[in-house]
Amino acid sequence: MISKENLFQLFTETRAHTEIICAPLEIEDYVVQPVVDVSPPKWHLGHTTWFFEEFVLKKYQKDYKLFDENSAFVFNSYYESVGEKVVRTDRGNLSRPTVAWIYEYRSYVTKAISDLFNNSTNFSEELLNVMEIGCHHEKQHQELLLTDIKYILGNNPLLPSYQDNFKENSIQEFKQEWLTIPEGVYEIGHEGDSFFYDNEIGRHKVYLNQYEISNKLVTNGEYLEFIKDKGYKDVLLWHAEAWDWINTENITAPSYWHFVDGNWKQYTLSGLQDLNLAAPLAHVSYYEAFAFAQWKGMRLPTEFEWEVAQEKFKWGSRWEWTESSYDAYPNYKKADGALGEYNGKFMVNQKVLRGGSVATSANHTRATYRNFFQPHLRWQFTGVRLAK
Ligand SMILES: [Fe+2]
Repeated sequence: MISKENLFQLFTETRAHTEIICAPLEIEDYVVQPVVDVSPPKWHLGHTTWFFEEFVLKKYQKDYKLFDENSAFVFNSYYESVGEKVVRTDRGNLSRPTVAWIYEYRSYVTKAISDLFNNSTNFSEELLNVMEIGCHHEKQHQELLLTDIKYILGNNPLLPSYQDNFKENSIQEFKQEWLTIPEGVYEIGHEGDSFFYDNEIGRHKVYLNQYEISNKLVTNGEYLEFIKDKGYKDVLLWHAEAWDWINTENITAPSYWHFVDGNWKQYTLSGLQDLNLAAPLAHVSYYEAFAFAQWKGMRLPTEFEWEVAQEKFKWGSRWEWTESSYDAYPNYKKADGALGEYNGKFMVNQKVLRGGSVATSANHTRATYRNFFQPHLRWQFTGVRLAK
């Protein structure tokens, strides 16, 4: 369990870092919601603040006075048991509260939490735990902020840059090799004192057949070969709903790829650049990851295969699609109350991703971390590692 001192430092750094991410934005960038999955930056700023107000201050700060009684209605995301809320698709339709108001709300709540730390002698384990969840929750939203900003700017026809020299395309400067993992019974899931989400525990054994997994992520260059070989036109490579998706949505390349005057370019957080063939592939859906693996005559690893092998390869630049459906581990138990809505209710029709990405905040991910998305989504930095 984290100490009170370390937790206060984590809280202070986390709150500050969210605002650093937003510093390059123009005021108009804060407001728009171009698609349902992409929330306006100002909503993230308010929602991460509401989370501390709702789950910490209302419960643990005696006589806490709400900054504004409408905050819960505007900034509750998906906690049905907390009460009424603005529907998700309407987040971008709210010109009020203003960005300035939301920054004031942030300061007010940050100060109230700081006061709680400074004045409270009786800091229970339960409070430490909820505060730690609040910090990691905000770190999750820091990643969403970056990917949502990328979507907002990258779908603007002017393709503006967010920040010069944002490093999203680190090259894997090592030879591709196949790592052989012997068959056996392996232990899966989180253990130890460090922070984890409830979906990672329930440590349990799994049997794995012998398999091979690549030490390297699939590159843009390799994926370009798939496109050139008409991979998007070959129905036999695709799941049925994936085929419907690529045809309905007219998908012919990863997100942010542009074919300009006979050359492939990619939009990055630093603007439009030549497609970097050696960089790890990003912004593909599970559907595309699966079809690519089929085309190679290979497959995606399961999340268990990934977890067992991860010590042997570098990871953390792309969220890696796995072949595993997002399900509860044995003995999974939801937290009591509204926080039980954090993870468990999403355990249907989603795929697990492992690793982390260039947008993931420092000290947020770990080897047992289970990210999850619906199979068509690709606005995160999602990539592919092959297995066979
Ligand atoms: Fe959230």
